[in-house]
Order: sequence, then C-alpha cells, then structure tokens
Amino acid sequence: MITAGYTREWKRTLYCGEPRAEHSGRIVVLNGWLRARRDLGGIIFIELWDHTGVTQIVFNPELIPEAHARAKDLRSEYVLAARGTLRRRPEGTENPSLATGEVELMAEDFILLSPSKLPPFDPEDADRVNEDLRMKYRYIDMRREGMQRNLRVRSRIVQYTRNYFDRNGFLDVETPMMTKSTPEGARDYLVPSRVNPGDFYALPQSPQIFKQILMISGCDRYIQIARCFRDEDLRADRQPEFTQIDLEMSFITEEDIMDLIEPFMAGVFKETAGAEIPTPMPRLTWREAMERFGSDKPDMRIDMEIVDVSDAFSVGENPFSALIAGGGAVKGLLVPGGGSLSRKEITDLEGRAKELGSAGMANFQIRDGALKGPLVKFMSDEAQSRLVKTSGITSSDIFFIMADKAWARACAMLGQIRLEIARDRGLMRDGWKFLWVTEFPLFEWDEESRRWSPVHHPFTAPMDEDIEHLKSDPGRVRSRAYDLVLNGVELGGGSIRIHNPEMQSVVFDALDISPELARERFGFLLDALSSGTPPHGGVAFGLDRLVMMICGAKSIREVMAFPKNQKAQCPLTGAPSGVDKPQLEQLYILSSAPERDEG
Ligand code: AMO
Repeated sequence: MITAGYTREWKRTLYCGEPRAEHSGRIVVLNGWLRARRDLGGIIFIELWDHTGVTQIVFNPELIPEAHARAKDLRSEYVLAARGTLRRRPEGTENPSLATGEVELMAEDFILLSPSKLPPFDPEDADRVNEDLRMKYRYIDMRREGMQRNLRVRSRIVQYTRNYFDRNGFLDVETPMMTKSTPEGARDYLVPSRVNPGDFYALPQSPQIFKQILMISGCDRYIQIARCFRDEDLRADRQPEFTQIDLEMSFITEEDIMDLIEPFMAGVFKETAGAEIPTPMPRLTWREAMERFGSDKPDMRIDMEIVDVSDAFSVGENPFSALIAGGGAVKGLLVPGGGSLSRKEITDLEGRAKELGSAGMANFQIRDGALKGPLVKFMSDEAQSRLVKTSGITSSDIFFIMADKAWARACAMLGQIRLEIARDRGLMRDGWKFLWVTEFPLFEWDEESRRWSPVHHPFTAPMDEDIEHLKSDPGRVRSRAYDLVLNGVELGGGSIRIHNPEMQSVVFDALDISPELARERFGFLLDALSSGTPPHGGVAFGLDRLVMMICGAKSIREVMAFPKNQKAQCPLTGAPSGVDKPQLEQLYILSSAPERDEG
C-alpha cells in the first residue's frame, strides 16, 4: 500500500482530544490512529485517536467521492492525517461519553501515512487481554488512555522531583551501572567482563555505597532518579529492574530527612492527585507499629487495633498458661460490628489463621450480657472481666485472639487478619494515610544461615543508647532506620549511616562478616570512611510504587513502559535470550544450562 509523505500542510492543528463545540466551522487537520470504524448507509465514520483522545471523522461519498473511495481501505490502527471542517453533530447523535462528543470532522481530504498489520487486540479491550500478549505488543497496548495517563503521571512526578531537589540544593549525580555487588539483600545480576577473564560486574541493587562516598567526597546533598536491579521473586509491586528516587545528605539527623521529604510528598500528591496531605506526618516506632497493627508497614486507613490480653490469661489454669509463663503473648483484635459474622465466615478466618502459622485463633462474643466463646470455660470471672475491659467488646462485636511464644509473631498473624477483615468488610477508609516507622531492629536472626542479618543494610547506624548491646545482645539493638509507609505499602526507606570505620567493623563483626571478607567486599568503603566522613544519611523511594499508588494501578507493570513479566522476561524483545557459543567463549563462560529445544 502506498503511503503519503508527511508535509507541512498535513500537520495537525488540533490534537484528537481537543475539538469542542466552539471550534465549529473551523478547518482543522487531525493526525492519529484509526480506532473504531463504521459504515452507515454509504457514509464512513471513523474515530481518530491520539494520546489526548478521539474525534469522530465523517467521510461522505456525495461530498468527497474520491477520498471516500480511498477511505474504504482504512483499517484499525492505520495512521492518517485528515483535513475538514469541524461541525456540531446533528441533534440526537451527540456522544456525551466522549469529551469531543458534541462535534465531528467533516472530512474534505486525508492522506494515509502508515498502514497497520491486523492488531492482535483492540487497545481499548486491553484489560481483558492476556498480559503477556499486551507486553509483547506493548506499542499497541500503550495506545490507550489508561497507559498514556500512567506514563504522563510518572513523567510529572519525575519533573516535580527534579525541580524540588534542585531548589533544595541537591546535586544530581549518576552512579555506575557496572559496579561491585551492593548488599541490599537480593541476588545480583552479573555482567561478565571480557577484558578481565573470569571477573564480573554486578548491576547495582541500589546506589547505596556510591551515595555514601559522594558524601565523603563533600557533595553535601545528592539526588538521583536511579535504576536498580534485583534478582528476586517478582510480585505485583516488584520488578527486577526498577527506579528509585534516591538521596543522601551530610551533617543531618533523621529530622532533617523527614522535614525535607514531607513537603516533597505532599507536593507530589497535590500536583498529581490534587490531594492535601497533612504534615507533619504521623510516626510510630517499629515496636509500636507491630504491637498495635501487627505490621511494620501498617495500613492506617483501618481503625482496628491489636491489644494485649495476656493479663486475662495470666490468672488461673488455661491453655495459654505455659506459653505466658515462658514469655509468650496473647494478642487480640476487636472487629466492630463483627457479631454479625456467620459461622462460616468465622471458620474461614480460623482456617486463614492456621495458614498463617497460628496454632489457632479463638473468638469471643457477648450474648445475653455474658461473654461467650470456646475459651470462656477456662476463665475466671476476674479473667473474663479483664478481657472485656481490655477489648472493649460489646454485643455487636467479635473479638479474636491468637497466642504465640514470640509476641511479634502473634501480632503479625493478627495484623494480617486485620487487613483481610478490613478489606472484606469494607472497613477501610478512603484517602492517603502516610506514616513514618522508626527505630527498626538493627538485625534479625536468620534461622536458615543461623546468623544475624541486617534488617535494612549493613551501613545503617545503631541508636546511640543501644550501642552497648551490639556485642552482647545484637537482637536488642535498635537502628536509626526509617520507612515511609503509605496505605500499608512501603514507599521508601532509609537511615542515618555509620560514619566511622570502627563502628562499621563492629557491625560487620556482629553480622559474622570476617575482617578479611569485609576488606575484600567493602575495603574501598572502609578506606573512604577512614578519610574524613561527615555524619550522613538518606532515603530511597520506589518511584514505580509511588506512581502505581497515585494512578491506582493494580500492578507496578501498569506504570512502566517496558516491564518484565512474572518470569522476569520481556515479551516484547524476547530478553533474556541465549547467545552464541563464540560470544560466550569470548567472555570465558561455559554454560551448564540444559540444551534447549530450539523448536
Ligand atoms: P530499599 O531496599 O528499602 O532501600 O529500597 C527502597 C525502596 O525501593 C523500592 N523497591 C522496589 N520497587 C520495585 N521493585 C523492587 N524489586 C523493589 N525493591 C525495592 C521500595 C523500597 O521502599 N539503599 C537503600 C535506601 C537507603 O538506605 O537510602 C534501599 O535501596 O519502594
């Protein structure tokens, strides 16, 4: 098919989403993709699409016989330029669901700029199409309002971010993509070096070490919209390749970071979601977040709180006596109005508690003024009245309890139940609920490797008052880390860093990283730390997650132009893909992967 060249006289005078009644009578040129097409009584109607919307174009055989004849060959997703007079649609044919629905373009002429293969799906139907197919034909998938809007919101957030940090004296620095492994807790993506046989670069899991070195270099305030790479199991809010808003500051404390970030986030939400975010944002210590909400990223749109009812079970003999004597805890969750839960709903929730690893979840209700429930028979009057008092239960509620020898586990299981009940019963308020979580533990015990591992990363500073326990009781040490949580999602996290090499060595030691290994992996950092290091700290936000939340997208893939699928593949390009033997040989690589059937 012959297509026309694109010359000045065919340049658009309006975008496809712009025509309105006030443009009636104007000669207009539109450029775009053919969307819907209908032939009615010899007249051809098409909708022409671009990223701003669609306009209906009419080809009338009586007025433009030659152009009309050519228009018969137009198909979906063909690219054309059309010229004509914009007019009000005849009465009764307006389309109120379209922004341009009051008008139509009476075509006088058009040129075909590019035909299209039969598209594998209609972009407007993409929500019903298999996601891998959408990703394979991403250019078709992106030709629709939802994806275009998400990309634009993303772009505006990036612009806002750059301006905000520029105004606040931050220096934008690019850090290397081909680097040495950074310990953010995931597996590395490796890049073999041809000129250094047997050696590999790692793609950065984050710019963590470089940004600290920039502080040691006197850069004072650093920002980067940084690409990060992590080989980890994918989820709806995780990608192997993602973007952080990454920053670091010198001569600061936690307060400075929060004072800078709160107006930044409020600005982003005002600018892109029209939302007013109250500041200062609430803060909770990790311990309190776990105790009250059973999560280190509590969703504050839910009012329900976890309470401790161990004292109700510390009197008399009951199934929890031994557990409590051994330092365990009994935690409870009041579901207001939960008295109306059916027997089946309760059994389902109990089943869910078992799936979460609980030995069991018991419930209490009030009937005829008396406490009812499977455990009541073990409880004295005193114990019962303690439970009623602590829980605040009334005759319309239900109160669930779980016990565990570790208080945090009891809380976490109940925290999950809290989330699920709130979702199922519509107990979640609307809006944006931000929260800082502070004072995380510095280390957590990893049963598998039987050693301590960092909760954040190994460069996070311990709280001054806990330093004395670093060697004797590492599990007790709190860190100077903070996370910013929004509606139950971890948007970002950071910390005040260790800025002296001795302290860094003590922490490596607690992590069972020998001085030799520390030198081998982080020697350059230890040297830098010994060369005049300002106190410093920073934070990184998941840009993709932020955009996802603002757009209300179901998955992180909806806010990335070219994401990977659940198997970390790019269906569009076919990456990752095999390479020729000679190429592997040049890189000194022998593959032990099973031969693939190339069919
Ligand atoms: P952290 O590992 O907590 O901290 O990461 C910061 C934020 O990055 C986002 N994020 C992800 N987004 C999409 N896909 C992923 N696979 C993924 N992994 C993380 C999250 C997370 O909160 N260097 C430190 C920051 C610092 O200490 O300053 C770091 O990377 O939103």
